Amino acid sequence: MEKVLVLDFGGQYNQLIARRVRECHVYCEVKPYTISLEEIQKAAPIGLIFTGGPNSVYDPASPHVDPRIFELGIPVLGICYGCQLMAYTLKGQVMPATEATAREYGKTQTHFETQDALFRGLPDTGITWMSHGDYIAKLPEGFGVTATTDACPNAAISHPGKKLYGVQYHPEVNHTENGLAMIRNFLYEVCGATGQWTMGDYLQRTVRQIREKVGTEKALLALSGGVDSSVAAALMAEAIGDQLTCVFVDHGFLRRKEAEEVEAAFSKWNLHFVRVNAEARFLEKLKGIADPEAKRKGIGEEFIRVFEEEGKKIGKVAFLVQGTIYPDVIESGLGDAAVIKSHHNVGGLPDYVDFREILEPLRMLFKDEVRQLGRELGLPEYLVSRQPFPGPGLAIRVIGDLTKEKLDILREADFIFREEIAKAGEDKNLSQYFAVLTNTRSVGVMGDGRTYDHTLALRAVTTSDFMTADWARIPYEVLDRISGRIVNEVRGINRIVYDITSKPPATIEWE
Ligand code: XMP
Repeated sequence: MEKVLVLDFGGQYNQLIARRVRECHVYCEVKPYTISLEEIQKAAPIGLIFTGGPNSVYDPASPHVDPRIFELGIPVLGICYGCQLMAYTLKGQVMPATEATAREYGKTQTHFETQDALFRGLPDTGITWMSHGDYIAKLPEGFGVTATTDACPNAAISHPGKKLYGVQYHPEVNHTENGLAMIRNFLYEVCGATGQWTMGDYLQRTVRQIREKVGTEKALLALSGGVDSSVAAALMAEAIGDQLTCVFVDHGFLRRKEAEEVEAAFSKWNLHFVRVNAEARFLEKLKGIADPEAKRKGIGEEFIRVFEEEGKKIGKVAFLVQGTIYPDVIESGLGDAAVIKSHHNVGGLPDYVDFREILEPLRMLFKDEVRQLGRELGLPEYLVSRQPFPGPGLAIRVIGDLTKEKLDILREADFIFREEIAKAGEDKNLSQYFAVLTNTRSVGVMGDGRTYDHTLALRAVTTSDFMTADWARIPYEVLDRISGRIVNEVRGINRIVYDITSKPPATIEWE
């Protein structure tokens, strides 16, 4: 299959570049810039993209490439640092910018040479997203200028004969107008891509590969109901049917109707679906524990015990399936200690179940591709597009010690919150939203009587990476409806507050 390699020079948008390429239906992988010429030739990519990076090409410690990379006959698109590196390596001149020359940050009006393959069919002016301290002062031999800004005479350069292209700005970010179209031009006009990467094809290919690999053996999967494990389960079910066993542990900390929804979604496949109703033993294990980390640890341990028991019942399992996705396995391009975070989302699943190998059928997919694959497999939309839900579930959204009564109160309130958010069409604007049962009680009045009940907190955030987040500006009238319904319909709650802290300094969850 045709593929593009993105060589990572340590920029902050590296994964985004790879996603953009795949959005153009071309398969692509991110590799550290240290990849050898032999490895590149073996991979036979139709094009290379050099990412941006924080360094200056003059810094001897900055990442460099073997100049012969430009003689392989493989088209190259250099972005920001990648562009400077190409110019520098091919004997052009790169200079540190001064105020008077070309230091540019942010949105910049840019003029394009639309004869150039990169800008063909696009408007000749537009906004680009710049972020560079160095600039190309002199072009390497054979190169021409294809875009300019007021401050930067060489905002894009190309050598069409050698199929080498460079842009000083970031076409992969949304702020650059027509950035995706420029990437598409590189792929289709320069690299000759035909657009073979579709989820339908991926599905067929992967099903074939899984069948070949698994043969007649058995596979086991811990199904949480989250997007990744659900899609992995559906994919495996499509491939090997009843050779697969999915163990779904209902720890009693799930949202209302959640376990039933997961079970219903998987009933259409001919697989062994084991739902373990373990609420009682989890509540027993966590009895009296109020500390958040102790709760997490207790739940993790108990989960493993349950999984282990089920694994033993099934016996002789050759493969353990995990829902690892691509962002977890991408190696960083910088530094000697390239970290590979594989198996990251599994959180200590046991190796005592008698299995021989780990299967990770989603390991080359981005999250949005996982969702697409789920749709392709016919998983219902509520499973495919759902917001993240922490493994310990509602246990870390009841502050302090847990009781079934508190969990039930939270389940009802959370259900109303989610229902009203969806009704108002706000769910599309939110990255994550949920209710938290605090351990504060306060005085209220209901009818003519005094109440002394729980305070519920509502939390809704917007974020792209869950590392930082902003509190969501939900319209007052929607909050008002939610508050009215919850205090009327849920016994035990007489006060509702809305969390207006961002992350940092708060975190998304309360515990
Ligand atoms: P915080 O609260 O750290 O959460 O801002 C960031 C994201 O991670 C989720 N989260 C968890 N997910 N096990 C999980 O599987 C956990 O223990 C856990 N704690 C937080 C949280 O829901 C948010 O999406």
